[in-house]
Amino acid sequence: MQHDGGTQARGEWRSRVGFVLAAAGSAIGLGNIWRFPGETAENGGAAFLVVYLAAVLLVGLPVMVAELSIGRRTRRNPVGAFLVLKERTPWWLLGGLGVVTGVAILSFYSVVAGWTLRYLFKAISGGLTGVDTAEQATAHFNDAVANGPMNTVMHGLFMIMTVLIVFGGVKKGIELASRIMMPLLLVLLVGLVLFSVSLPGAEAGLKFYLQPDWSQLTPKVIIAAVGQAFFSLSLGMGAMITYGSYLARKENLVSSGVLVAVMDTGIAVLAGLVIFPALAAAGANLETLPKGAGLIFTVLPTIFSSMPMEPWGGIIFGTLFFLLLSVAALTSTISLLEVGVAWAVDELHMSRHKAAILLGLAAFILGIPSALATGGWQVFTQAHWLGMDFMTAMSTVFGTYSLTIGALLICIFVGWVWGVKPALAELRDGCSSEGIMRLWSILVRFVCPLAIAVILAQSMGLLDRLAGLFPG
Ligand code: TRP
Repeated sequence: MQHDGGTQARGEWRSRVGFVLAAAGSAIGLGNIWRFPGETAENGGAAFLVVYLAAVLLVGLPVMVAELSIGRRTRRNPVGAFLVLKERTPWWLLGGLGVVTGVAILSFYSVVAGWTLRYLFKAISGGLTGVDTAEQATAHFNDAVANGPMNTVMHGLFMIMTVLIVFGGVKKGIELASRIMMPLLLVLLVGLVLFSVSLPGAEAGLKFYLQPDWSQLTPKVIIAAVGQAFFSLSLGMGAMITYGSYLARKENLVSSGVLVAVMDTGIAVLAGLVIFPALAAAGANLETLPKGAGLIFTVLPTIFSSMPMEPWGGIIFGTLFFLLLSVAALTSTISLLEVGVAWAVDELHMSRHKAAILLGLAAFILGIPSALATGGWQVFTQAHWLGMDFMTAMSTVFGTYSLTIGALLICIFVGWVWGVKPALAELRDGCSSEGIMRLWSILVRFVCPLAIAVILAQSMGLLDRLAGLFPG
């Protein structure tokens, strides 16, 4: 068996469609359907949505193209990529941060994925029927996740599935899973939107989601939106460097990136269109929404149980939904694990199997406190972790800040250190529009780094302190 550059280590996507679907598979996941509505609810509704869309367009897309170009140029994992482009400089540490961030995100992500598995089993067995009101659904959820050992078992089960698919490598594992399941998820989601907006009382939800109340716009909302954009597009930690490294020379990186971003954003927006109307219809007060992690789990069962042909409509839709959500989560967890695996295979010459097992085990162990954070051990449940419970702290530190800092450094690297010239040369393979490439180079050199830096400073209170010097 060979290693770096060997056939097993360096796969290539079967086709451009395969790549786009796999990258979209990485992007689309719990981030769209669980984290996005939750963040929207917590950050004031429609105002958040608008900032989010701007963030995807102005900073998300340019960073996506930057990552893909690094990956395809070097055909390496993130650590190796920076080593190749800037030898004997500390830039490889940025790749290292990516590997660590990937394992850290994987650790709590897999816990939430475990909840979806649990809900899948509940839905199949009819355990969600009769959960009609928002209060009932909330009680049901709190009850379910209070079971720490069960959370841990499901988290472990999900990690095992992730490791098994990563064993299969690029074509057989990742590409195949995405090809079939992603289109199916879209169809189901559209069906749910139609059902949800037709429920009596849905308008209040639509209003909250689509009619911006600008008084809600604060620095916290902006950093949350930018962080969410990176999280949702799988940016800031080298996942797209890794996926780009398996992409053939002739493909157009810009249009591939646009396609992935459009699909990802479309699914998130649809998820909001399911959740908020349904919430309003179930009689929830949108101003005092259940905060945080539980939102979709506390809303969807009420939709399913109000479906026609009780209980069968709900059982069928509920089962399908949690099945597809689990698969969407799986195509995301494999990309989180793949970054570290690519690194261990390329740089440490480990076998793919060994790398996947070791890193999967690390993520499993690191995830146990998150699995216990909704029940079980008080240390993890309580606000001992930067004022948050353990899981929320992991999500904030790695899912928002680490990605945002990573994305900032990637922009600086491509815009100023590696330089846009070689990056543009890479983009030119497959892209014909000079205008678009010029626009990209302006965004990646000036707009993105500045915007991200200001947002980071603001969210860490640095600008507030400055503003405090000039009251009024
Ligand atoms: N984007 C995925 C989601 O929305 C999560 C994810 C997968 C991710 N790979 C990533 C997030 C890499 C950040 C970086 O569910």
